[in-house]
Amino acid sequence: MKPAVVRMSELALRGKRVLIREDLNVPVKDGRVTSDARIRAALPTLRMAAEQQAAVIVMSHLGRPKEGVFDPAASLAPVAAALSRLLGRNVPLVRDWLSGVDVAPGEIVLAENVRFEVGEKADDPELARRMAALCDVFVMDAFGTAHRAQASTSGVARFAKVACAGPLLVAELEALGAALEAPRRPVAAIIGGAKVSTKIEVLRALAARVDELILGGGIANTVIAASGAEVGRSLVERDMVGFAKRLLGGEFGSAAIPLPTDVVVAEGLDADAKGRVTDLAGVGANDMILDIGPETAAAYSARLGAAGTIVWNGPVGVFEHAEFAAGTKTISEAVAASGAFSIAGGGDTLAAIEQFGVSEKISYISTGGGAFLEFLEGKRLPAVAVLEERAAAKGA
Ligand code: 3PG
Ligand code: MG
Repeated sequence: MKPAVVRMSELALRGKRVLIREDLNVPVKDGRVTSDARIRAALPTLRMAAEQQAAVIVMSHLGRPKEGVFDPAASLAPVAAALSRLLGRNVPLVRDWLSGVDVAPGEIVLAENVRFEVGEKADDPELARRMAALCDVFVMDAFGTAHRAQASTSGVARFAKVACAGPLLVAELEALGAALEAPRRPVAAIIGGAKVSTKIEVLRALAARVDELILGGGIANTVIAASGAEVGRSLVERDMVGFAKRLLGGEFGSAAIPLPTDVVVAEGLDADAKGRVTDLAGVGANDMILDIGPETAAAYSARLGAAGTIVWNGPVGVFEHAEFAAGTKTISEAVAASGAFSIAGGGDTLAAIEQFGVSEKISYISTGGGAFLEFLEGKRLPAVAVLEERAAAKGA
């Protein structure tokens, strides 16, 4: 898919003030960035702009702080440090940036957390105008936040003199578009994770689009419960069982939904919990299903091996615990070994991919979590919609 937006790569940036929205919302612990994947994904865009002698101001959010108060725990200081290290140059963090930022051509500065500003979440036009006034060109590059219509993602793009899509955003839209619009078949989707309720829309959309829907985690438990099997004390969303029955019944589409034939159970999930492999009939009233079993993992792997396209969001077990990691490990290795065009997204999925060392063998790793899911749901991402409207108005 070629998104109908103006691209940063088409513009002459020399000497221009360029405001770039990135998603540098990364995990931070004790003042240090613990996974810099999103920061690394933004580097080519920042380098490209600075090399062209643009004066670069970078905006991002971090966490969900209260608007109107500075909270050191949500400061972008650790991100500025990581950016400086990765770029091999000093990237100053500017605390009061809305009234104007001192930045020379070829330099990069980072504006403090946009979510400290009153009106960011509500996409306040006044705030968006002040952001737009900082620059000649606004670059939306934050795919991970493109599902949020906020001042720094959406409003600013309406008011900036020029608004365009950055290379990371374009790459994400093209990769995900390729997997959904004219994919090599069969298409397999792996949807795992704890909660069904947050994934209903994506399951509904994928059931109609993909050939195989491979489920894991709490979602699989709920579907197993819907099939009538015992799930003991497993994480199940009881009020989603009705939805799961409709999904299994093919109401939303013709995707095959294979059920696990064996699982790994335990009576607890503390550090010294021991897993027991059993077929589904052997799940007891006190058991919790915490992973798919080896027979199921092998069957799923065979399906993934035959796939032309794979979309993956969510682990199939509690992979953070060694006893319940085998299913997710086998699945990640199957995705890696498959000749399919494979796309993975979401924080837990990326952590699993890193843990099992298969990053290099996934065709495309998305920086999006919620945005990745909304794209799969077929929703229009609001921050992309504004860029399309600006491009259309320019062409008209
Ligand atoms: C994310 O990590 O999902 C994005 O950065 C968006 O963050 P949000 O869910 O707090 O809007
Ligand atoms: Mg989120």
